[in-house]
Amino acid sequence: MTLTEEINKRRTFAIISHPDAGKTTLTEKLLLYGGAIHLAGSIKSRKTQRHAVSDWMEIEKQRGISVTSSVLQFDYAGCRINILDTPGHQDFSEDTYRTLMAVDSAVMILDAAKGVEAQTKKLFKVCRERRIPIFTFINKLDRYGKVPLDLLDEIEKVLGIPTYPMNFPIGTDGKYLGVFDRQRNQIELFADDTTHGQKERASEIFAADDEEVIKRIGQENFDALQDDLMLLDEAGEVFDKNKVDAGELTPTFFGSAMTNFGVQNFLEEYLRLAPPPAPRLSSDGIIEPDDDKFSAFVFKIQANMNPAHRDRLAFIRICSGKFERNMQVWHAASDKLIKLSQPQQFLAQDRQIIDEAFPGDIVGLFDPGIFGIGDTLTDAAHKFKFEDFPTFPPEKFARVQAKDTMKRKQFAKGIEQLTQEGAIQLFNQVGAGTESYVVGTVGTLQFEVLQYRLKSEYGVDVLLTMLPFEVARWLKFNDGVKVTPASLRGADRGMFVLDRQENPVLLVENEWALGWISDNNPRLEMNATHFLNTDIY
Ligand code: G4P
Repeated sequence: MTLTEEINKRRTFAIISHPDAGKTTLTEKLLLYGGAIHLAGSIKSRKTQRHAVSDWMEIEKQRGISVTSSVLQFDYAGCRINILDTPGHQDFSEDTYRTLMAVDSAVMILDAAKGVEAQTKKLFKVCRERRIPIFTFINKLDRYGKVPLDLLDEIEKVLGIPTYPMNFPIGTDGKYLGVFDRQRNQIELFADDTTHGQKERASEIFAADDEEVIKRIGQENFDALQDDLMLLDEAGEVFDKNKVDAGELTPTFFGSAMTNFGVQNFLEEYLRLAPPPAPRLSSDGIIEPDDDKFSAFVFKIQANMNPAHRDRLAFIRICSGKFERNMQVWHAASDKLIKLSQPQQFLAQDRQIIDEAFPGDIVGLFDPGIFGIGDTLTDAAHKFKFEDFPTFPPEKFARVQAKDTMKRKQFAKGIEQLTQEGAIQLFNQVGAGTESYVVGTVGTLQFEVLQYRLKSEYGVDVLLTMLPFEVARWLKFNDGVKVTPASLRGADRGMFVLDRQENPVLLVENEWALGWISDNNPRLEMNATHFLNTDIY
């Protein structure tokens, strides 16, 4: 197979959703339909209860599971699918955001009873900014939920993206019998779910005007469907592939991951419409995936929880050329040539050493501590750097210090490594010395994880004091003069800190305080996101 053929069959995506919308269930069903597992339930039963730190630890301790469930690869209908999962626990982390830097499209799951929820909004925003295609799966149609047309309306109003329903449910709320496929103009009616979703669900396909349909679903349901379809045709969007590709129109599917209602149709349509690996921006212009020179970037680093070995796995996303085991590549961050030995790939639930991989694929590399998030790897004959990674604004902050001052060195090392992994963001309070750090995270669970890991991996007990701030802004005067606590009016209304590159950042309690600072410092620019490896000056 040529490089171009390999690329064109790849689909690399992430599933975004609010916890409990059904991400795990749908992922598993895609594996079921993809033939990668034979009975649904095997992944889910291993998923421990979320929220509790002890459970997170349990999962992490069983490294195989957590690592393999973070990248899944399987084949379906001539496509090679890479699903990049975001962490299984309820809490939100930078990891979740970064995964979205490595995908070519996203599947957004909504719970039909709940509609658009908080985390969906956050994740959607990141996808929108990257202009990647977003496909929507409205889940849990097997039970009572909001009216389908109202859900479409909610997506458009709350997220600001028009929808194009690819299918539309037939029947009444909680008792849907099938779906109308708008592209093929046909009806799929499902048999009863007799295996509790463990096996594929039988269905029958009918032409839209087949008289048998009325017999099966009843005149009333048939009439209601016609009304809804007419409304969609008249008032809804027209399908436009260009808009889908630009992330400006979301193809929307109705279904139930649990009962396998509409799952297969979703998978097939998604594979048909979703893009193969896209070109990426670099310091040397656009890099096309079929460029024969290898390139990749690190988007995730996962620590080994075995305290005896502090090695880590760095996940790279291949962007161009062919990856080969033991190849030598140029590591932009250190300006060194390195050998990529023991590359791992993830097939369904197992991981294995691989010999080759192609653009769109994710490979796990053993990292002796050289890789950082966002690092570029390229062929030695064509050196460049990929566009920088944004870091997202942390929303929770705490002061962290070692209980035992004798352990300062291990403490600093542990904090440094966890920062490199992207588990936390690190700040220094101006004038506070080096005894303590200010740590920012996207969710509160990270603090508990931080405490646990510093103890178990570095033998350091830490004292954690939560700070009342919820907003971080990177500061810059528009004339290029560096912001200092003395030159900022109202600096004492928050906490003035420096990030790792010594860029000034202000932490405040709320948007109101931010408004005050903005009003009283006319030359000030405040940025919510910031790039990882670049000094903002
Ligand atoms: P998440 O990964 O997005 O957090 O969600 P997950 O798939 O774990 O699903 C959350 C809950 O919603 C689970 O129930 C799951 O069974 C249920 N669920 C997922 N898809 C559907 C669906 O299509 N219909 C219905 N009715 N429920 C669905 P749970 O009670 O938390 O777990 P379990 O006891 O079912 O394992």
